[in-house]
Amino acid sequence: MDLRTNYMGLQLPSPLVASASPLTADLASLLLLQDAGAGAVVLPSLFAEQIEDETRRHIALSMAGADSSPEARSYLSAPDADETQAHRYLDLVRRASTELTIPVIASLNGATEENWTDYARQLEDAGASALELNIYFIAADLTLDGRAIEARYLHIVQAVRRRVRIPIAVKLSPYFSAPGNFALQLAQAGADSLVLFNRFYQPDIDTVRLKLRNNLELSRSSEMRLALLWTGILHGRINASLAASTGVDTPDNVVQYLLAGADVVMTTSSLLRHGAAHMRTLVDGLAAWLGNRGMTDLCAMRGMLSQRNIADPEEYQRANYRKILAGYGAAPAYQEGSIQ
Ligand SMILES: Cc1cc2nc3c(=O)[nH]c(=O)nc-3n(C[C@H](O)[C@H](O)[C@H](O)COP(=O)(O)O)c2cc1C
Repeated sequence: MDLRTNYMGLQLPSPLVASASPLTADLASLLLLQDAGAGAVVLPSLFAEQIEDETRRHIALSMAGADSSPEARSYLSAPDADETQAHRYLDLVRRASTELTIPVIASLNGATEENWTDYARQLEDAGASALELNIYFIAADLTLDGRAIEARYLHIVQAVRRRVRIPIAVKLSPYFSAPGNFALQLAQAGADSLVLFNRFYQPDIDTVRLKLRNNLELSRSSEMRLALLWTGILHGRINASLAASTGVDTPDNVVQYLLAGADVVMTTSSLLRHGAAHMRTLVDGLAAWLGNRGMTDLCAMRGMLSQRNIADPEEYQRANYRKILAGYGAAPAYQEGSIQ
């Protein structure tokens, strides 16, 4: 079975990508994922806060050193560059891209255009095949309107685009009033791929200890629907690859995202839940689905059920919504006969 896939210009042996998580943080599990059929891997993010903390530490140490005695200067000297988190990350990028044959995608995670975007160039130099930008930003500042928030995303993408030649993926929030139009703007700003969607970790409330709880729950297949909707709407209508992300647990889920029009399908929770070898179950399950339908590659099925390719494009919009509501028990008398 030919599962080869083009993802933002990169050649992948399969459309399954292991998204950023602790499982992609070390070489041994990266090799396991590759052996199990992953088409590419996304390393865990280097966070803007990690880069900025280190920059502040370096400045503080060098200033303290300059004002004190030679003896103090010796113990206040800047930390060994090899010991900093950013350098350890660069080292992981370097080792992974040397050892793996599949593309290694580095990830930067920030919310504003500060000096963390400078790291994009260093990640490219360390051998990353592409960069994924996770712009994780909760719009809790009520003075910021939607236009200002969109401008912030676009500035970050433009800033990174100026610094690197490798492809850039943007891991996108679903919380825009017009995600389709904003996807077009991101592609124009230089994004080669959109990852649909970032999964925001919302707080929970502990009613006994009266505090916020920040426990992490792995995703379930039922969470796929929002990404499925926008993958289906955007397929074939945007000059960027589409990576569907969130909720994949079974081979059937992989097939669903590809039918909607995803170029690649990403998964983290299923790998954390079942282990890295689950990648093999997903890849083989996809190959079996294709084989059972007499297909030898992904061309015919990718996007088969996207909005552009189904008989009634309205099914992606209000028509299906009304059918679903009407189908749940008896329709109210005043709607009888009005919904096909
Ligand atoms: C433990 C854990 C760590 C993660 N770390 C990162 C990270 O460093 N950067 C990032 O962009 N996403 C990170 N994610 C998010 C995943 O890459 C993925 O987008 C999310 O889990 C949704 O996909 P899923 O439904 O397949 O789990 C993490 C997720 C988990 C569960």
